[in-house]
Amino acid sequence: MLRPYKRKAIMYLTYPKLTVIITAGDSNRATAMAASWHTYLSFDPPLYGVSIAPKRFTHKLIMKHKEFGVNFLPFEMSKLIWDTGSISGAEVDKFERFKIRKFAGKKIKAPLIADSISILECKVVDVVRTGDHDLFVGEIIHAWYQEDLFDEDGVLIASKASQAYYMGKGKFIALNENKVLSFE
Ligand SMILES: Cc1cc2nc3c(=O)[nH]c(=O)nc-3n(C[C@H](O)[C@H](O)[C@H](O)COP(=O)(O)O)c2cc1C
Repeated sequence: MLRPYKRKAIMYLTYPKLTVIITAGDSNRATAMAASWHTYLSFDPPLYGVSIAPKRFTHKLIMKHKEFGVNFLPFEMSKLIWDTGSISGAEVDKFERFKIRKFAGKKIKAPLIADSISILECKVVDVVRTGDHDLFVGEIIHAWYQEDLFDEDGVLIASKASQAYYMGKGKFIALNENKVLSFE
């Protein structure tokens, strides 16, 4: 039976959410943070949005460099996503603390995460205030993928890998490869 939802965390009704690690900064000073609030926004030009609270260190670095990386990690690395969402890069170097394997982006200065399934390099084209978060609108200027995990149409092969989906309250879930429907 459908009932009125009385809790404050209405957001959990919209979960699970594909959760990524946003990277920002440069080779001197960089950070990495978990983000569940992100989405594709436009096909042409290819735009990607991520909603980040102004108090995050990541927000400061994106404002400074006008660039960010969107790193889609495998489900098996959910603990790293959780860890990057639990402490601020203003206090520690999360790349060192969590032994994140990074590499230099092709078009942006922010480090990217080597164990990702796919990665978007984005250049900020707009910042929209949305309540207590800012929506960074990024143009995708370069993209990476693990070729062996995708089929010839560029679609993820669910039996080979899953990204990490956040359910809330510290729980992550993977894609269920036995529950795939396919339509022509
Ligand atoms: C699973 C998860 C998802 C999160 N999603 C977001 C998000 O979409 N936007 C946001 O501003 N913060 C989000 N956070 C909080 C930040 O990741 C967290 O505050 C982080 O420590 C910020 O790091 P920074 O200060 O280095 O930027 C999330 C945290 C977790 C654990």
